[in-house]
Amino acid sequence: MSDGFRLGVYCTIVRPEEKRILAAADARGVEVDRWDDAAVTFGLERPSALPSVVLIRSVSHTSALYAAWGFEHYGTPTISTAEVLALAGDKVRTSFRLAEAGVPTPRTVVAFSPDSALRAIEAVGYPAVLKPAVGSWGRLMAKVGDAEQAVQILEHKSALPGPLHSVFYVQEYVPKPERDLRTLVIGDSVVGAMYRRSSEWRTNAARGGSVEAAPLTEELVELSLRAAQAVGGGVLAVDLMESPRGLVVHEVNPTPEFKALAGATGIDIAAQIVDYAIEVGRR
Ligand SMILES: Nc1ncnc2c1ncn2[C@@H]1O[C@H](COP(=O)(O)OP(=O)(O)O)[C@@H](O)[C@H]1O
Ligand SMILES: [Mg+2]
Repeated sequence: MSDGFRLGVYCTIVRPEEKRILAAADARGVEVDRWDDAAVTFGLERPSALPSVVLIRSVSHTSALYAAWGFEHYGTPTISTAEVLALAGDKVRTSFRLAEAGVPTPRTVVAFSPDSALRAIEAVGYPAVLKPAVGSWGRLMAKVGDAEQAVQILEHKSALPGPLHSVFYVQEYVPKPERDLRTLVIGDSVVGAMYRRSSEWRTNAARGGSVEAAPLTEELVELSLRAAQAVGGGVLAVDLMESPRGLVVHEVNPTPEFKALAGATGIDIAAQIVDYAIEVGRR
């Protein structure tokens, strides 16, 4: 493209996903500016050379969010937007939004002290799930079987550094089959879906869960689009579980990895993301 359009890619390292994004941009003749999150700085004055749109691909949620605020300050659109990163990057805020939008989601109670967290766990019943409000890859989550375990896990959690560990995100344990579902939403469409299977209760592909393409049923498409809209839309991965009362959405990811989904479905997801970015950058 010779019209000055430039695609920014803000990332930590070039993972397979970023490699594919760079290749898809190259195939379209799109010029790319790589922004290394460890190297860039954001001053208050708008730099003279800025990309037309920036794909935020940082591994760190904090870096992603602040960079998106930085680009917003410069008037440069980002995917995801700062607002979407702030909402979808935080499980507490996501749960509030999903409930407000009437999207079925597991029963969730938020508490701010070990004592009230214990009451929240007793309220949702055993087994319960404790998650960090911000996090991914299933890290630092716990399945709590009884009151004795609850007290011990809450004691451990209280000893962790950082203010976010004093937010206790308590959720009912959903007795799903040994799998969950992951869809990818780009704009107004759901581009693909997969099952993630594991004998462990956390089925994240990053934890070694095996993946397989899943049929895009009407219910899956409808819920995925509503969940994505609930946090502001764009490029979002939606996590769902098959609960006894039907599909429930438990997470929306604003900087999704998509290597596993691309492998399971054969869909060129990077190409679709780049096409969407071009569309956003030209608005
Ligand atoms: N309430 C729950 N009941 C049963 N399994 C759950 C529950 N919440 C999460 N899981 C399992 O753990 C995985 C990781 O949870 P998730 O909320 O998606 O956090 P992360 O951001 O770490 O991916 C899910 O994909 C799912 O397999
Ligand atoms: Mg998840």
